[in-house]
Amino acid sequence: MPVVAEPGPVLTDDGGRVDPGAVVGVVGESTPGERRVAATPDTVAQLVRLGYRVRVEAGAGTGADFSDAAYAAAGASVASLTEAWSGDLVLKINPPDLQELDLLAAGATLVSLLSPALRPDLVEALAARPVTALAMDAVPRISRAQSLDVLSSMANIAGYRAVIEASHAFGHFFTGQITAAGKVPPAKVLVVGAGVAGLAAIGTAGSLGAVVRATDPRPEVAEQVRSLGGTYLAVAEEQDEVSSTGYAREMGDDYQARERRLYAEQCADVDIVITTALIPGRPAPRLVTADMVAAMRPGSVIVDMAAANGGNVEGTVTGESVTTPHGVTIIGYTDLAGRLPAQASQLFGTNLLNLVKLMTPERDGRLVVDWDDVVLRSMTVVRHHDGVTETTWPPPPVKVSATPAPPAPTATTQSAPDRAPSRLRRPMAVAGAIALFALAALSPPPLLGHLTVFALAVVVGYYVIGHVHHALHTPLMSVTNAISGIIVVGAVLQIGHGDVVVTVLATAAVLLASINVFGGFAVTTRMLSMFSRSGGGSA
Ligand code: NAI
Repeated sequence: MPVVAEPGPVLTDDGGRVDPGAVVGVVGESTPGERRVAATPDTVAQLVRLGYRVRVEAGAGTGADFSDAAYAAAGASVASLTEAWSGDLVLKINPPDLQELDLLAAGATLVSLLSPALRPDLVEALAARPVTALAMDAVPRISRAQSLDVLSSMANIAGYRAVIEASHAFGHFFTGQITAAGKVPPAKVLVVGAGVAGLAAIGTAGSLGAVVRATDPRPEVAEQVRSLGGTYLAVAEEQDEVSSTGYAREMGDDYQARERRLYAEQCADVDIVITTALIPGRPAPRLVTADMVAAMRPGSVIVDMAAANGGNVEGTVTGESVTTPHGVTIIGYTDLAGRLPAQASQLFGTNLLNLVKLMTPERDGRLVVDWDDVVLRSMTVVRHHDGVTETTWPPPPVKVSATPAPPAPTATTQSAPDRAPSRLRRPMAVAGAIALFALAALSPPPLLGHLTVFALAVVVGYYVIGHVHHALHTPLMSVTNAISGIIVVGAVLQIGHGDVVVTVLATAAVLLASINVFGGFAVTTRMLSMFSRSGGGSA
């Protein structure tokens, strides 16, 4: 196997030597059937730009269609297994086995999936070595860490692939059609759990033309389900089921009974069920029983995405596709993201690159694991520092952005300062009404007419505009722009009236209405430029 030489130390313009950057090793995956790789030629090129020397194990990218030559062209050196493992920073997808750990250099940093909560043996083995280890599956769910979140990236791909697997096993179209040979109804799909994987499945099934329904105990996902064209099926009316970590928590008995009724009804009606329900740190909740599976029509398909965590469906065989005696296929694959190896490698590699950027504040090829950074602290499982290795798992809890705001206080629990404004509301309304009557009584007849029209416009406008759906806010903005245009014309006609007060008011009206018109144009241009390929201002 040819090993491409690494570039030597860099020389500055005045001939001085600059330390070459640290070595990043991209190692191959030993897990049977794994075709993903932790870096692509694109991400390698960016690692090189960050100042690192990159060694890619020969053949590491073959399963995802990235050749050694492509890595070399991107600036990496193609290396042997031991050379790649001896890097200062080792990037990998799956948790390493114990033999692989022995290849790590003293002081090295390993970044990969580590499942620290489920693999105390691996944490112990890491802690016995002079290394630092960061778990990509321990990225906290906070906005700042989203660009590193491989669980979301992989769940997104897996949700898409679940629908593709289901459509492959299903003997009908997803979309409804009216053909010369007869009418074809659309497939009905139920997605259980509207997290990252579930939302990807809803979007994919909907774009193939299926009728999609989804359930989730977290009521705040209802809007997201609808925005993807699905119908949200609520198990209970009043729920607030998010834990402080942003994930769902286990449901009560009453909820579970209603949930069982809903799934029994739905399974008898739909063609495809995709289950993604997960409660972190627990086995997957068993939601679809053997009776419900038996009630499905022959030819129906279930994809149990939680198969690796014990499964949401009775009858799932982990890692396999099985068909029940009456013809329902249950798919329990645990490598759905890996079934799109090039796409999965690209997203996983980009998440890793974003982590390396975070750990290279000076962009100089020097790795800094900042212990005060909440993201890096949360991901660090084992830390080698000042000659000592310590186990740093589990990390202190992180307050996540997905946590919902506390429920609005009810009338009985409102605090005194909160009640004060509502106590004042009635006297203020009465005072306003008296002032309006006084103005009406004292004003000349034409002004009275104008005031009446104005008051009616305020009331009608409040009710009409207040009930416009979010999705129609953009067309509504166009209408308000048109109204502002009329105001500008009217005000320009009044400017030369002669009365100073009228001139001042007309000038103010022109100014304010113009802000609405030109501000609307500016906002629209900015929005359109977000969709422009060049990223410039032209749409
Ligand atoms: P997530 O945590 O974002 O979503 C899980 C969803 O399940 C949450 O929205 C939660 O509210 C919901 N849920 C919890 N209890 C429920 C219940 N009783 N009924 C209905 N919904 C319930 O997780 P993510 O990232 O979307 O992953 C979903 C599942 O897919 C996980 O089990 C994950 O391990 C699995 N997965 C499987 C892959 C495969 O190849 N088979 C690949 C990637 C993910």
